[in-house]
Amino acid sequence: MVQATPLLLVLLLALGAHGLAVKKCSLTGRWVNDLGSNMTIMTVNANGAFAGSYHTAVTATSNEIKLSPLQGSMQKSPNQKGQPTFGFTVNWSFSDSITVFTGQCFVDEYGKEILKTMWLLRSRVENIKNDWKATRVGTNVFTRLQSQE
Ligand code: BTN
Repeated sequence: MVQATPLLLVLLLALGAHGLAVKKCSLTGRWVNDLGSNMTIMTVNANGAFAGSYHTAVTATSNEIKLSPLQGSMQKSPNQKGQPTFGFTVNWSFSDSITVFTGQCFVDEYGKEILKTMWLLRSRVENIKNDWKATRVGTNVFTRLQSQE
């Protein structure tokens, strides 16, 4: 019984230390997705707002692909537990389209950060009769591009 208290203390300290060491997912940095598209997210500000750039590997158009700006927002609520939800919009600089992404920043079982997203790509159509075919939907998984230090 006398021995139980220090043991409990050690256990509680270990659990506490583990709690502190849990890795958080950060959106900032360079990412690549399953299509080979590259994305850079700059600093996320205190309100959760962020900006960045997107270089898509593919296009629904016949236009030459160009680097495009993105603007997004990350949830800042206290119960995100280091794996925040977010959304961002890419305003394509080489087409008339817009893509909105929504997703969550996860840390997987190996401690690797991964962005699981869904997107809607809205293309411009000539008239309202063609509205039915204007939106594509899909998913993308992003992993962090390692910096070459
Ligand atoms: C366009 O074709 O009009 C603009 C480029 C769209 C690229 C799409 S957005 C969703 C999907 N994920 C990517 O990384 N690229 C494609």
